[in-house]
Amino acid sequence: MPLSNEEYYRIQKLPPYVFAVVNEMKAKLRAGQQDVIDFGMGNPDGATPRPIVNKMIEAARDKRNHRYSMSRGLPNLRLEVTKRYKRNYGVEIDPETECIATIGAKDALAHLLFAVIGPGDAVASPNPTYPIHQYGVIMAEGHACMLPMNDPATFLQALHDLYKRKPPKMVLISFPHNPTTCTVDLDFMKEIVRLAHQHGTMVVHDFAYADICFDGYQAPSILQVEGAKEVAVEIFSMSKSYNMAGWRMGFCLGNPKMIKALARIKSYLDYGIFQPLQIAGIIALRECEEETHKIRDVYLKRRNVLVEGLNRAGWPVEAPKGSMFLWAPIPERFREMGCLEFSKRLLSDALVAVSPGIGFGPMGEGHVRFAFIENEHRTRQAVRCIKQFLKA
Ligand SMILES: Cc1ncc(COP(=O)(O)O)c(C=O)c1O
Repeated sequence: MPLSNEEYYRIQKLPPYVFAVVNEMKAKLRAGQQDVIDFGMGNPDGATPRPIVNKMIEAARDKRNHRYSMSRGLPNLRLEVTKRYKRNYGVEIDPETECIATIGAKDALAHLLFAVIGPGDAVASPNPTYPIHQYGVIMAEGHACMLPMNDPATFLQALHDLYKRKPPKMVLISFPHNPTTCTVDLDFMKEIVRLAHQHGTMVVHDFAYADICFDGYQAPSILQVEGAKEVAVEIFSMSKSYNMAGWRMGFCLGNPKMIKALARIKSYLDYGIFQPLQIAGIIALRECEEETHKIRDVYLKRRNVLVEGLNRAGWPVEAPKGSMFLWAPIPERFREMGCLEFSKRLLSDALVAVSPGIGFGPMGEGHVRFAFIENEHRTRQAVRCIKQFLKA
């Protein structure tokens, strides 16, 4: 007789998604023909740039591309991403030993943790955060140490304190940060790398929002820090930069020992990304840098509409410098009800869907997250609905 979810050894450590509550309500409203304006999930709504799609179609017509591909990624795909690192960050990466293609950043994160973290190993990461940063650790039977991510300085202070008590085996960070939108400078990365060298810690930097930066801000790659490759890997994703979320394409770059461990695990688990997608990925990285700027500018315009609109509507929020999100403190009047109840109210009364902060961890209480996935027109419409709601 099969066990239930409460009994399966690993599954019992994974609570049901908090977002499911809001998603269910959203589905019911939509089934009743209500027009919900949905800022819930960080799922890019834009099209993948044409040259990438065209290359994929051409490659898919060739039967040689229908076979199992290489789990580590085609050599030319790995070469192109390392060239991009050279162009954008001035960093030299060996495509053979310091780079592996992954089935999105999620694959890289989950399987890297599985490869290098064992029972009880402590992994420090910010909280709130993108859920896999903590649940990937739990699935690998490690110990997730959650450090408060109010701002980078608070996080760094908490990390210093943790190092004094008991150095973690790994530090897992991600900037521009989802959901708090916090951004850091190269000095922050230098300090993370310095501490890791001093204590023999591994560092993972999830760089999913590498290219979604605004107002002249440029997010640093951790690999720009001298000596970073001795302790750190960075995970780069095609999902946001190139509107390729459904394609499942990412990379893990940096420390050769960690890359080798990830490659070993993946050689057992998958046969790599469908080859036509990898071939199209080569074109993306080689020819579509301009497109990443256009994609960023779409988010920028939406950010401006939302931030200015909410402030005018009497909901004070600050414009983020990076990521595709707004991390908004719940307006004073509603704070007591908590973010889950507030999100439900916003949905039922204003027909606007957001993610409750608590879905990103206990320290996310008090906030909701808007993803910039509705166009400017609909974002304006949402602001009007929120204004009415706040006035009522
Ligand atoms: C911080 C962060 N990392 C990784 C991902 C997932 O990236 P991918 O689509 O490459 O798996 C997301 C997606 O929202 C994210 O916010």
